[in-house]
Amino acid sequence: MNILMVCLGNICRSPLAEGVMQHLIDQKGLNWTVDSAGTSGFHNGALPDMRSIAVAKDYGIDITNQHSRKFVSEDFDRFDHIYVMDSSNYQNVVKLARSDDHRSKVSLLLNAAEPGLNRNVPDPYYEGGFDGVYQMIDKACKALVSQAQVSM
Ligand code: 4NP
Repeated sequence: MNILMVCLGNICRSPLAEGVMQHLIDQKGLNWTVDSAGTSGFHNGALPDMRSIAVAKDYGIDITNQHSRKFVSEDFDRFDHIYVMDSSNYQNVVKLARSDDHRSKVSLLLNAAEPGLNRNVPDPYYEGGFDGVYQMIDKACKALVSQAQVSM
């Protein structure tokens, strides 16, 4: 299974989601891949935000191997599931879908742990709150892994 995590800048939230999911994949020995991207491309090539790097490190995860890239419509072909951080990312990604199959791959990450609540991972770029963001992402990624393991 190939998973893509998406936010606006691909420097704060989705790099954390990629790092947390990669850590779980390694821990559980899952045959999955994970990548991340941003809908904006504003920070193309940049390392994750220092505050994301720091909070990941607090939990024993290194995300300094990542570089920001823009989401492209070819990502619909490369990935089985596209998890977005908020409803604005959802709109921006779905706009690029070329089929119902593509559209059906996109969902809000937090719905993995809380189906149907349509909660957003808040954008911490200006407001901060990186630890809270980490906790939300961690809970959702763990839910994804445990649901998949039940159905394996
Ligand atoms: P992210 O956060 O979408 O979680 O990576 C942001 C990063 C940069 C900006 C906005 C949100 N920005 O406006 O540059």
